[in-house]
Amino acid sequence: MKKLYQYAACLLIGGLVATACKTTKSPSGQAGGVRQGQGVYQYREEDPLTKPFYSDRKGVIGRNGMVASAHPEASQVGLTILQAGGNAVDAAVAVQFALAVVYPNAGNVGGGGFMVYRDRSGKAYSLDYREKAPGRSTANMYLDSAGNVRPGLSTSGHLASGVPGSVDGMVEAHKRFGKLTWAQVLQPAIDLATNGYALTERDATGLNRIRKELQTINPGKAYFLKSTTDTSSRWKQGDKLVQADLARTLQRIQQQGRAGFYEGETARLLTDEMKRGGGIISEEDLKNYHAVWRDPLQATYKEYNVITMPPTSSGGVALIQLMRLSEQYPLRRWGWNRDSTVQVMIEAERRVYADRAKFLGDPDFLKIPVAQLIDPAYLRSRWQDFSFAHATDSRNVRGGTLPGYESLETTHFSIVDKEGNAVSITTTLNGGYGSRVVIGGAGFFMNNEMDDFSVKPGVPNMFGLTGNQANAIAPNKRMLSSMTPTILEKDGKLFMVVGTPGGSTIITSVYQTILNVIEHGMTMQQSVNALKFHHQWLPDKTIFEQGAFTEPTTQTLISRGYILERLTNTLGRMDCVLVRPDGSYEGASDPRADNTARGY
Ligand code: DON
Repeated sequence: MKKLYQYAACLLIGGLVATACKTTKSPSGQAGGVRQGQGVYQYREEDPLTKPFYSDRKGVIGRNGMVASAHPEASQVGLTILQAGGNAVDAAVAVQFALAVVYPNAGNVGGGGFMVYRDRSGKAYSLDYREKAPGRSTANMYLDSAGNVRPGLSTSGHLASGVPGSVDGMVEAHKRFGKLTWAQVLQPAIDLATNGYALTERDATGLNRIRKELQTINPGKAYFLKSTTDTSSRWKQGDKLVQADLARTLQRIQQQGRAGFYEGETARLLTDEMKRGGGIISEEDLKNYHAVWRDPLQATYKEYNVITMPPTSSGGVALIQLMRLSEQYPLRRWGWNRDSTVQVMIEAERRVYADRAKFLGDPDFLKIPVAQLIDPAYLRSRWQDFSFAHATDSRNVRGGTLPGYESLETTHFSIVDKEGNAVSITTTLNGGYGSRVVIGGAGFFMNNEMDDFSVKPGVPNMFGLTGNQANAIAPNKRMLSSMTPTILEKDGKLFMVVGTPGGSTIITSVYQTILNVIEHGMTMQQSVNALKFHHQWLPDKTIFEQGAFTEPTTQTLISRGYILERLTNTLGRMDCVLVRPDGSYEGASDPRADNTARGY
C-alpha cells in the first residue's frame, strides 16, 4: 500500500505553505495523496485505537491558581503575582509585560492582542487591543504601479507595522479589574529587563536566526546582538540578555500609564524611528489608539457554553462554526482521528475558512453577520454538498449565502486564580520578532501585523490566507485575526481556558484541543500533547503532524481524494487550564516548545 504515497520533497515555508509537490490520483478521480516535507516519512503501524501524542508530558496540578505561558520566566512571574494576592487580571498584565522581555519573538509592547475574561461570578468580557492601520495607510499601499504586490513590504521593515495596542489593552484591563497597583504588576518585567535573564536554547537559536536581518533593518543598532563589537558572535543557552532601553520604556509605562507609551519620550522615539525607516505611524496615530471592550461571543455546544473572541478576530466565529458543524456527526462514537472523524473535521474547516475570507473583517468598519454565521440552520445547509465518498473540491466551495446579508509568532497564555477568575490572552507581533524593526532608544520590536490585511484580493498572506474587501486596508481599521482566546463553561461553571499561536492554524488547533477533551476523554495535557492536523479551504490540502493519522485512516482519506501533507515541524503551542471534577486546576503547556505551566 505504501506505493500509493509519493515521497516528493516539499519545502515548507513558515511551516504552513508548501511548494508544489506531486500527488497520486485517487479512485475518485481527484488528486489525493501524501506529500512530505524533508526526510523520509515512516508510517507507524499501530493499533488504530491508540492515541498518538507528541510527548508524554504530564499536566501540572494546582488548587489555588495556575499560569500557563510560552516561557518559564513569564509563568513564574504570573505565579508570583497570584501568590502575592493578585487576581488573574493582575497576573495576566504582569505576564504580558514579562513576555515582552523574555519572549521577544511574540511577547510584546509593540504589537497587540485579545483578552477573554470570565470572572468568578460567570460574567464574561472581551478586550480587543488589536493593532490598527496607521492614518496614512491606503488600500494599495503594498502594490506597485501595475497593481502587483511588492514582496516583503507588509512583512518586514517600518511600513509593515500597525499602531500597537498592547499597552493600552493592559492599562484598560488593569483599570477595570486589577487589584494590585499598576506599579506592582509592571515591576517583574522591569526587573527581568534590568537584571537580564538566562536564554533558553530556543531563545538563543531564535535570536541567532534573525541576526543578519536585525543588522540590515536596524543599521548601527546593537539590540539583541550578543556583542556590539563582534557582530558575528552567537548567543548560546544560559547567556544573559539585559535590555536597558526596554527597562526604561517599561519604567515610563509604569510611571505614566498609557501616556508612558503613546505620548512623550516613547512616542517620540517610535515616530523618529518611523521617519528614519520610511514608516508612517504618526504621533496622532499613537495618541488616538484605544483598545475596545466588546461583548464576547458566546454560544452553546452540548452542555458547554463557549466564550470566545468576536471580530476583529475571526477565531471565535470560526471556532463556533466548526464545533457546531461537527456536532451534527457522532465524532465521539467514531473515535479520535478515525477516518470519518477526520473527514468531517476537514470538510468543516474547508467551509469555515471560505466564510472567513468572505465575511470577516473589522466590525467597526463593516457589518459582520455573526449571528447568521453561527446559526445551526445555516450550518446545516453548509453540509449540502458533502459526501463521505470523496473530498469536496475547494474550488467549488465559496463563502455561504446568508439571507439578508449585504454586502482575518504570536503567543497565548491562560491564567486562573484561586477565586476562579479566568483570563485567556493571545498576543502577537504577527511573524516571529514582527517587522524586525527595533525602536531605537526604546528597545522593543514592532509588529508586522499589516500583513494580516488582505493586501490585494485573492493574494495569500504569509499564512496562505486569502481575503477580499471585508479585510481590505483602510486608515484606522483593524486587520482580521485568527487568534482564538477561549473559555468554556460546563453546566454554568468554569471548565477550560484555551488558546495558542499559529497564524491560520490557531482556530483548528483550538478546535481539536477542545474536542479532544470533551468528545474523546483526554486530560488537558493529553489533549495538548495530541498530534494535530489543519485544513483552511485554500490551499486545498490537509497538513498534519507526523503520526497524527494511523495508516488505515491515511489510506481511507487518500482513497477519498484528500491531499495530505506531512509537516516537518509542529502545530500549536497550546497553553491551557482545565478545571477538574474535584475543583483543582490542570495546567497544560505545550511540549513542542519552552511553554511552562506553574500552579500552586
Ligand atoms: O492575528 C493573527 O491571526 C496572526 N497575526 C497570528 C500570528 C501567529 O499566530 C504567528 N504565530 N505562530
